[in-house]
Amino acid sequence: MELKKFVDALPIPSFITPKESYQGAPLYEVSMIETLHKFHRDLPKTKVWGYNGQVPGPTFNVEKNQPIYVRWTNHLPLKHFLPVDKTIHGAHHNPEVRTVVHLHGSPSEPDSDGHPEAWFTRNFQQTGPHFMKEIYHYPNTERAANLWYHDHALGITRLNVYAGLAGLYFVRDEQERTLPLPKGKYEVPLMIQDKTFNPDGSLFYPAQPDNPSPNLPYPSIVPSFLGDTITVNGKVWPFLNVEPRKYRFRLLNASNSRTYKFQLSNLRPFYLIGTDGGLLTRPIKVESLDVSPAERIDIVVDFSRLGGQKIVLQDGFELENPTGEIMEFRVSKSLSCPDQSKVPLLLSRIEPLRVNKVRKIRRITLNDSQDEYGRLMLLFDDKEWMDPATETPLLNSIEIWELVNLTPGIHPIHVHLVNFRVLDRYDKDGRLLIPLPADYGLKDTVLVAGGETVRIIMKFQPFSGDYVWHCHRLEHEDHDMMRPLKIIPFHSSNHSNSNRHQTD
Ligand code: C2O
Ligand code: CU
Repeated sequence: MELKKFVDALPIPSFITPKESYQGAPLYEVSMIETLHKFHRDLPKTKVWGYNGQVPGPTFNVEKNQPIYVRWTNHLPLKHFLPVDKTIHGAHHNPEVRTVVHLHGSPSEPDSDGHPEAWFTRNFQQTGPHFMKEIYHYPNTERAANLWYHDHALGITRLNVYAGLAGLYFVRDEQERTLPLPKGKYEVPLMIQDKTFNPDGSLFYPAQPDNPSPNLPYPSIVPSFLGDTITVNGKVWPFLNVEPRKYRFRLLNASNSRTYKFQLSNLRPFYLIGTDGGLLTRPIKVESLDVSPAERIDIVVDFSRLGGQKIVLQDGFELENPTGEIMEFRVSKSLSCPDQSKVPLLLSRIEPLRVNKVRKIRRITLNDSQDEYGRLMLLFDDKEWMDPATETPLLNSIEIWELVNLTPGIHPIHVHLVNFRVLDRYDKDGRLLIPLPADYGLKDTVLVAGGETVRIIMKFQPFSGDYVWHCHRLEHEDHDMMRPLKIIPFHSSNHSNSNRHQTD
């Protein structure tokens, strides 16, 4: 259904504060709750699942090197309100509503990383095979960055995130604070998600048959779900009143599958100042940015000289469609105080990774396949989630991964624990491509377009243990474009029990 655009003001998700302390650090309590949420003026309230009942969840704002604890609890019903697919690999034997939280972009210990099999149900009544503990520890040792947290339960992530389980997490540091970038109310988070609503206000997600037969051609959950309506911070096509000055937008594509080409309706340039892993070394002037699911962009838009105008944030891929518009900026005629912010020429320092220290180069294909019902699956190297781990880097070693996309679609590839650099990208005939602006920054998720090969380099630190890496199109991740990432502690390879780590 088509809703009127730009009638609701953009909400800013509230900050969460810790309730008590635990082992010398702040302890935050977050509970997953079913609630009703108002997405649009003309839409009845929508049933959602929210962290602390909020959509998006409450925003964390933490300081670098100040660790925190979070107790994530599940108070959701035992049955899903969106159509589950019992045939998805690894999902059929599990309880219907299972949850686990991953802090995307965080260097967390394995038992706080939200492994897809570390799921738990309402009140921890049941827990998954990988379950470790109820209180998670986040060391916050990374540089200032825009992280986010979201559900990651095996085989059901696409439904849980779509139901509302996602929120923002900012790490701040001194280096960033010294820069004259727009601050306070001039720094605005934008979490963008596409949804489809039924006329009664409920969320629509395509259903799967309960008992698919191998002989029937069922529509697959893949390749993707694309909503016909765009939400920002939990409102449909909102507007934001801005002053004629510079703004910093911390933008997250939290959509299940949709990649956007962000641009301004006046086609004016803006500055990319940061990516997934924090600030770039230097700002890059851009006219548009392609952003795939889970990627973040940190941008500065200058509205000075635009007083009295309306500027729309657009998706350049969809200009013919309603989803080609995302939100509206209404520029006032006057400033409440002079704009002293600047985009400095030098933003930060990024440590280079020495290519001559690379221990291993892995060439991994992104391919499609079919499941036992004849439905499309997307895989890495033709392997499913349950196949034994093949990405088993040594702790502290540097590896290059060559991601060879044999499919025509986009795959945003996310590696847990690390930040990586993008070395280069090639088209299907092996011709070197011009880098994307975001390729200059620290990344944890990289857009790999159809037919492309993208090479990334990363150092596996600071922890060893069981992590995962996957495509962040959630329909792909759930079926089965996700693989274990097992980081092996170096010393164990000299021990008699060296194999234990690899097999148990
Ligand atoms: Cu944002 Cu493994 O996920
Ligand atoms: Cu994918």
